[in-house]
Amino acid sequence: MFSDADAAALYDLLNPWDPGRSPGDRFYHELVMAADSVLDVGCGTGAMLACAREHGHHGRLAGLDPDRAALDRARRRAGIEWAEGTAADARWKVGFDLATMTGHAFQCLVTDRDLRASLAAIHAALREGGRFAFETRHPQARAWRDWNPSNGSDITDAAGRALRVWHEVESVAGDVVTFTETTALADGTVLRVDRTSLRFPGIQTLSTFLADAGFEIEAQYGDWDRAPITTDSREIITIARR
Ligand SMILES: C[S@@+](CC[C@H](N)C(=O)[O-])C[C@H]1O[C@@H](n2cnc3c(N)ncnc32)[C@H](O)[C@@H]1O
Repeated sequence: MFSDADAAALYDLLNPWDPGRSPGDRFYHELVMAADSVLDVGCGTGAMLACAREHGHHGRLAGLDPDRAALDRARRRAGIEWAEGTAADARWKVGFDLATMTGHAFQCLVTDRDLRASLAAIHAALREGGRFAFETRHPQARAWRDWNPSNGSDITDAAGRALRVWHEVESVAGDVVTFTETTALADGTVLRVDRTSLRFPGIQTLSTFLADAGFEIEAQYGDWDRAPITTDSREIITIARR
């Protein structure tokens, strides 16, 4: 068996937070370190905020995620407020300086209704002039075409099991892609299959939802070096201001 806790631990192994090596992690790390208070929405196992604390962030840091197993790991990290819930559940009215959704967590907001409710809650959690930073995969790059078993990852988990993890797309419907993630032993024995839907909003869709929620787009980039979005961009990195 491969439990939710095992899956959360494996996520950390497959996605280590490392601003020294990953340009995306560095992008967020700089924003977080420059902000007095930060709400990380879809914080997962909490690695980003923990890293900021370790690097001397003295302000208020809060993380929110609906995945209990991920949050259980986050709660092992001291000095940070952790809360269980979705973006739409964000109930802080303290006026954070910065809200983030990293690791493409924003794409978990699939329906129009959830997008509206989530953006409204994030907007309410920010101070006037506060910023919301997040990235989505640009639909033009069709990243899901690489999500197939031949691009799987081989990894040894904390229990010493040799594992293979791969993805398979089930459907592409409008801007929503549904796929499975399979975790198996090296001999092919399947331990777990998780199904996820992610939305790939285009620039216009993002602009409309953000404007309707009362956000102004301060900057939008096509990569982590802050280059403009072009027809080759794989990411839409947005900084929106309340
Ligand atoms: C790919 S993980 C990213 C985790 C972390 N932000 C990172 O950068 O490693 C996506 C996260 O979004 C969370 N999530 C899913 N639906 C959500 C929602 N409606 N509101 C907030 N977070 C959500 C998941 O539980 C998961 O932890």
